[in-house]
Amino acid sequence: MDKLNPIGIFDSGIGGLTVAHAINKALPKEQIIYFGDTQHLPYGNKSNKKIKSYSNQITNFLLEKDCKAIIIGCNSASAIAFEYIKKKVSANTLIINVIDPVVNYIQHDLSINHVGIIGTNATIESNAYARKILKKRKNLSISCLATPLLASLIEENNPNLYQNGIIETYLLDKKLANIDSLILGCTHYPLIETQINACFRDQIKLISAVNIIGGEVKKKLKKLNLLNPSNNNLKHIFYVSDFTKNFQEKTKLFFPRSIILQEENIFS
Ligand code: DGL
Repeated sequence: MDKLNPIGIFDSGIGGLTVAHAINKALPKEQIIYFGDTQHLPYGNKSNKKIKSYSNQITNFLLEKDCKAIIIGCNSASAIAFEYIKKKVSANTLIINVIDPVVNYIQHDLSINHVGIIGTNATIESNAYARKILKKRKNLSISCLATPLLASLIEENNPNLYQNGIIETYLLDKKLANIDSLILGCTHYPLIETQINACFRDQIKLISAVNIIGGEVKKKLKKLNLLNPSNNNLKHIFYVSDFTKNFQEKTKLFFPRSIILQEENIFS
């Protein structure tokens, strides 16, 4: 594998752009190839079979583009399809999900005693976070809540919709009443971090893969001697399965310098 090869990242839509942005910040010399499966979002309401199939096809597409690492920038796909994809690709392909770095963080932050987890139906029903966290900290209190409308609300890109009470209705659920920290278990949610903080009057710690993943990817690439040593100035390439104005605008927001954005139908 060549050090100059790009890093592949995928999500159902704009959520993974938060991950791509974090990786670009931590690793500015690396070229990114992103795939947003806008045709099939939201993933969180799809069957496990579909999530696995989409994730597998996107991974193959990114590997055909010679990506040296694949980052699953989606919690739903990380929860449902990570092990499946790993079995499908060759053993030395570097595949990173967004759940494990958060679990490792929680293992070491002993100020956390009761953690809440919000995410899509797929992520919460999989119980992936709770299962993995309890393996590391078996006495930690965990409260999980599916917040399935939030990703679509964020994709909708209409700030007025944030005033309609959906965010508060979810977050003021009594399940989350006594938490001291909250995992944003969907890569779309950092885009409404301000609103989430306001619901909790800034009293709890928000934990998001976006703040951890850049360092994690850097560490793993370094270990494999795959960090790009030179700035090759190649443009980042963003593929979408359905071109939308919203995706274009959000991409420009996260990557203001010129990028390539194109529609690509990869699904059979
Ligand atoms: N951003 C994704 C996640 O982290 C998916 C949201 C969705 O498409 O349902 O789960």
